Amino acid sequence: MLKKVTTSIQAILLVIFLTTVYPTLSQAQSANISDGMSPLLAAKYIHSVIEANRTIYSELIVERLGATIGLPATENWEKEKALPLPAQFLLKTAEDSNAKGIGMHYRLISLWPINKKNGPQSSFETKGLEHNLQNPTEPFSQLISVNGKPFFRAIFPDKAVSKSCVQCHNKHLQSPKRDFKLGDIMGGIIIDLPVEKTASANNSPLIAPEVVADYIHSIIESNRTVYSETIVDRLHKMKIAYASENWWEDNTLLLPAQFLLDASDLIAQKNVALDFKLISLWPINPQNGSANEFERNGLQYVLQHQTRPYFKKTTLSRKKFFEAIYPDYAVTPACVECHNQHPKSPKKDFKLGDVMGGISLFFTIK
Ligand code: HEC
Ligand code: HEC
Repeated sequence: MLKKVTTSIQAILLVIFLTTVYPTLSQAQSANISDGMSPLLAAKYIHSVIEANRTIYSELIVERLGATIGLPATENWEKEKALPLPAQFLLKTAEDSNAKGIGMHYRLISLWPINKKNGPQSSFETKGLEHNLQNPTEPFSQLISVNGKPFFRAIFPDKAVSKSCVQCHNKHLQSPKRDFKLGDIMGGIIIDLPVEKTASANNSPLIAPEVVADYIHSIIESNRTVYSETIVDRLHKMKIAYASENWWEDNTLLLPAQFLLDASDLIAQKNVALDFKLISLWPINPQNGSANEFERNGLQYVLQHQTRPYFKKTTLSRKKFFEAIYPDYAVTPACVECHNQHPKSPKKDFKLGDVMGGISLFFTIK
């Protein structure tokens, strides 16, 4: 049984690897740079997804379960009955996403790091973190060269979004700063995006929206995988907590679908022109069925092709939009078990690694 599961997981990893390293020719051809986006707008979308997932994890998992069932978040979570720290959750999703080899990288840094390896590694990073303290609304950004390749690098402020951020850092023995307050900037999220050398008319680099969609999707998928494997599956196996639709009343974990949707809602509240949701041909909740022909075709397409997204660009009153459907895989046994057993599920024979539905993405290009 265990062997079978491992093989399936390897199969999934292989699919993910092939998807990201060998995009199909049609996809590469259609990555039309003339339709490109500014790297700053791309970085803002990417950051909004990282920040939303970080906030949901900190507030609805760490802080809430700490207060209601006394579940702690500790550095040694792997060996204890505990949750990973918010920084470790972010790091794990970044490792998962960075390992896909799609070119984008992100990590967490600070001028007052608990862990020295999270300190600034260059004068650019120090300058960026200092800039954020003075100008918390705009990220610090610059074009840089990494091993001879051009990159757009941006540093966004990382704020103390919940009381637990402040309490834990202020009392941590290795923390060089002990007077953080709620809402303070505690550090920065640094995002690197590869850019094309081919420049636009005014010489600033652009990124194709197809590529930006791959980056955004990669972060959503990595958060979904890490949440399902490291939190839902692990705590369930340890009999500490389970995922439930009534997570609030039950003092337990949000369903993976609810985690994703809450992150999307948080972004919508910030007026970022980016939206994402989960859809399926076999939805437990009929509202998650396909809403139009594009979604229907997209779900059929990802079911057949398994690896590549289905997408389109539209122009509406001079605004350009990008829309895509990516396959959503059964990454852990819990996905399969819960859906197959759910009384409202129209499909009862999902298997590990199956495409269960789609992640639908929508954003403004310019
Ligand atoms: C229960 C304790 C705890 C909580 C809660 C916590 N942190 Fe941390 N944080 C740490 C530890 C420990 C590290 C170092 C992790 C490592 O070894 O990389 C860290 C790392 C960081 C870093 C990277 C720089 C550094 O200090 O190493 C930032 C920035 C940060 N946390 C901000 C936050 C924010 C913002 C929140 C709330 C969303 C938060 N932390 C919640 C303990 C905590
Ligand atoms: C403990 C039960 C449970 C687990 C675990 C779970 N789901 Fe779901 N899932 C649900 C429920 C219930 C809904 C409907 C949520 C709503 O009302 O919008 C849902 C929604 C979805 C949807 C949207 C379509 C639909 O069925 O409404 C997809 C796609 C999906 N889940 C895939 C997954 C994948 C992939 C995993 C593993 C990463 C997973 N689910 C884990 C119960 C679960």
